[in-house]
Amino acid sequence: MERLTRKRLFNPDGDTAPGARRIIGGNTTNLNDFNNMKYQWASDWYRQAMNNFWIPEEISMAADVLDYPRLTEAERTAYDKILSFLIFLDSVQTANLPNISQYVTANEINLCLTIQAFQEAVHSQSYSYMLDTICTPTERDRILYQWKDDAHLLARNTFIGDLYNEFQEKQDRLTFLKVLTANYILEGIYFYSGFMFFYNLARGGKMPGSVQEIRYINRDENTHLWLFRSIIKELRGEEPELFTGKNVAVMEEMMREGVRQEIAWGRYVIGEQIPGLTEEMVEDYILYLGNLRWSSLGFGTLYEGREAEPASMKWVGLYSNANMVKTDFFEAKSTAYAKSAALVDDL
Ligand SMILES: [Fe+2]
Ligand SMILES: [Fe+2]
Repeated sequence: MERLTRKRLFNPDGDTAPGARRIIGGNTTNLNDFNNMKYQWASDWYRQAMNNFWIPEEISMAADVLDYPRLTEAERTAYDKILSFLIFLDSVQTANLPNISQYVTANEINLCLTIQAFQEAVHSQSYSYMLDTICTPTERDRILYQWKDDAHLLARNTFIGDLYNEFQEKQDRLTFLKVLTANYILEGIYFYSGFMFFYNLARGGKMPGSVQEIRYINRDENTHLWLFRSIIKELRGEEPELFTGKNVAVMEEMMREGVRQEIAWGRYVIGEQIPGLTEEMVEDYILYLGNLRWSSLGFGTLYEGREAEPASMKWVGLYSNANMVKTDFFEAKSTAYAKSAALVDDL
């Protein structure tokens, strides 16, 4: 398989015409020219991501400090394991996105990936803030590094980590397509057993600060999903020969495996022990999401008969819907961000 060329950092002879720009294999100058973008969706994405800026510590965890010790043992175990997985996902994203950027030759897309990496860093920080507030430093460390003791969690992290490591070891075109697909699955499937667990706590009036953190994170993850879907679809237009039946079958198997793992994880961390959720609900929801993600890439149905949102899970949208996040549920101060007054020049 043909190797990708890593873009040159300083490249004064690069193409400046937007029409010459390509996602891979282009000749970029790396100049951040916001006035001449080839991909309009990248410009729209950038603005949206900037508007979504938020600060984890602005959300109060006061109620959670009281709620956490009062959770049932099953709820607290699920909370810890889910957070541990989410922390890993956001950390590996923060670290890996710059690797992908090295091979992307469309500057406006690199800008988006940089903002995304920043947001993943904020997400990791939000988990630290949540844990610092609700538990002791010893408990926090146990949760952060739970993969050391939990074989299921370690297996999940290893699956994702190996896919990302593979692109560090060989930068060919198929491995690039696989790392994009892995990102898309991570953003669109892997968070969701976790998110639904938090939203279910919200339905029971528990851990409102944690839930609010997760809702901001979910809003960002929706845009990350949008970004990777756009990159994959655009790449399909530019490099049709990369999307052979064989390579699309590789992507499809990755998606199916991601869905299988998320369902198995849901059974493991949620099971039948959390009031308001059942294994069947988790499975129905993840199969539906798998279909949604696969069909929104333009590849059709993945699981026949799973096209509609399960009636038992309609409530998830009340918490995860980005539009509702903006209007109904969030404090105005954090959604319309204007921080200039907070800067103090003390130099
Ligand atoms: Fe994230
Ligand atoms: Fe993300």
